[in-house]
Amino acid sequence: MATTLANWNGQEMPLEEVKVSVLDRAFLFGDAVYEVIRLYGGKLWMYDRHVGRLKTGLKALRIGGVNIDVLKTRIEQTVENSGIAEALVYIQVTRGVAKRTHHYPEKIEPNQLIYVEHFGDPCKQMRETGVRVISYHDYRWQRNDLKVTSLMANCMAAQVAHENGCIEVVQIGSDGYVTEGSHTSIFAVKDGKILVSPSSSKVLPGITKQQILELSAAANIGLNETRVKKDELKDVDEMFLTGTPEEIVPIIKVDDLVIGDGKPGPVTRKLQQAFTDSVQSWLKK
Ligand SMILES: Cc1ncc(COP(=O)(O)O)c(C=O)c1O
Repeated sequence: MATTLANWNGQEMPLEEVKVSVLDRAFLFGDAVYEVIRLYGGKLWMYDRHVGRLKTGLKALRIGGVNIDVLKTRIEQTVENSGIAEALVYIQVTRGVAKRTHHYPEKIEPNQLIYVEHFGDPCKQMRETGVRVISYHDYRWQRNDLKVTSLMANCMAAQVAHENGCIEVVQIGSDGYVTEGSHTSIFAVKDGKILVSPSSSKVLPGITKQQILELSAAANIGLNETRVKKDELKDVDEMFLTGTPEEIVPIIKVDDLVIGDGKPGPVTRKLQQAFTDSVQSWLKK
């Protein structure tokens, strides 16, 4: 297996050589924020937006001491030294190492991890065929707008999907409304209009979701930031999921419910094309 290049607090080393104390608060509490950035053709896609979201998380969690300019230099150097062009770049900032207390310790240095992993695009085929997902109760906490590493509820949901031969779940809140996937944003299309959960503490502000808002506006596709009930999925024409590695994947079935005519729909296809075009034109810049 090829080694994955990491940068641990400014020092480059193979990922498997990075060692961290058991007193790191990410280990004890999941006290850390993270980002996953797609590298297309050696270039960092939507870098500023990912770092913007990271900064929002650092501020909300009151994790100080991270120099964003230094972080960027480290990311760029690690990308360059990895020699990989098609990759996922993982970035994690933990609050750091301290004697275990629930409250935030004072005088603590954050630990900063970056690694660049080759990405073989496992969703390529699924973007053509579409996928079946299953519905699952949203057991997560009330601050899903923060991209934190305490992801156990997401992992439980993803495991249920995996055991059912699916790549994702559609999470349903206690009020019966669709929130999002375990690691993707979820969209529906009805009468030619896109429906998506509005920004709130219940869902992550997905970077790809933001692109869908922009791509649909540019393509004159209507979009309603409105919540959709699980019961209403029987009346939608199309569904799709989005995420940094996944891009846009059509959903053709939820549990045993066939979505639309059971094939990727025209609005989803149009958005997929617009997404590909936007990456291609950015790569040429
Ligand atoms: C819960 C959740 N929703 C949505 C997304 C998609 O976000 P993005 O488009 O920024 O990758 C993710 C990505 O990890 C996620 O974990």
